[in-house]
Amino acid sequence: MSSVDKKPTDELHDKEARFWDLQEERIDDLYARPHDWRFIPKIADKVIKPKIRYLQRLISRHKKEIGSILDIGCGNGWFCHACAEAGIRAYGVDISPKKVETAQRIAEEKGIADLCHFEAKDVMEVELPEKVDMLSAHGSLHHFPDLENQLPEMVERFLSPDGYMLFVEPHHEGMPPNIQDFIFKAASSKLFGRFFDKEFYLEVTGRSSLDEPEPEAPTEGDFNIRGESPAGLEFLGEEPDMGKILKDRYTIIEEKYFHYASGHLTNAFYVYQKSKLTRGLWRLLLPWIIWWDDRRCDKAEYNKYAEEGLWFLKR
Ligand SMILES: C[S@@+](CC[C@H](N)C(=O)[O-])C[C@H]1O[C@@H](n2cnc3c(N)ncnc32)[C@H](O)[C@@H]1O
Repeated sequence: MSSVDKKPTDELHDKEARFWDLQEERIDDLYARPHDWRFIPKIADKVIKPKIRYLQRLISRHKKEIGSILDIGCGNGWFCHACAEAGIRAYGVDISPKKVETAQRIAEEKGIADLCHFEAKDVMEVELPEKVDMLSAHGSLHHFPDLENQLPEMVERFLSPDGYMLFVEPHHEGMPPNIQDFIFKAASSKLFGRFFDKEFYLEVTGRSSLDEPEPEAPTEGDFNIRGESPAGLEFLGEEPDMGKILKDRYTIIEEKYFHYASGHLTNAFYVYQKSKLTRGLWRLLLPWIIWWDDRRCDKAEYNKYAEEGLWFLKR
């Protein structure tokens, strides 16, 4: 196909694949200078514990009905690996060849490659040898700007008639207002402010001062691999309500929310902290913060601000 024949979606897919390839190539740099708790494994393992436990319980409750899954936008394949380790056949599709290479390598290292089948493609272009019992996506559905049409097509093409869907996606953008106030006050205070790495925070958020609102994310030019991907920017730019998109079409079996404040607070009191003492104290406090946060996430008045939503659905 010549560049003249290329559809806008092809161009977006090319950009999306390049973005995630680049992120995978630079993944060691992101871990070496983390800008978010997700890039500090010993912290991330703690913050995501409630979610991982919830996922494990959900899968084990439905294990008899789930023999195979398709993970949409599988990234480095962690969810496929976890399913394969539970004896489930896992198909993982990702538009980034570098991510798929990593997913395949890890499956081989873990000795589960026989249960994992990875493919580097736009998921809409994939042919599967069977219909699966569950469609899953973890942080990937919001990379489909035409999700309202594409999701029903994925369901029709890939999911068995009695199949399940398990989606974990961004829910609320930004911090809950009271948590934002608290963090900004602490960062500007004399006592705590001197330990807060303001320069790095401003560099990552693209501001020149803490009072400035967060700038519009760039939609063109060089990629910001610490930010949202090209397709994600297109989807999130329209302020979609993922829960509504899913609930309008399918039957909710369970829904749960994660990270009301634990992620934002951990960024402020650990990631952007210059003082080893404060970081040490935060690590000690973290199990309690996570426990408190998880309870907040069960209440509607708080979970409307949660960073992530999990929806377990049936057709
Ligand atoms: C936020 S990452 C999530 C990766 C993984 N699910 C995880 O939990 O780490 C989104 C992933 O979706 C993939 N993706 C975006 N658009 C896609 C498409 N059209 N088809 C397949 N994968 C896609 C990206 O390459 C990226 O790896």
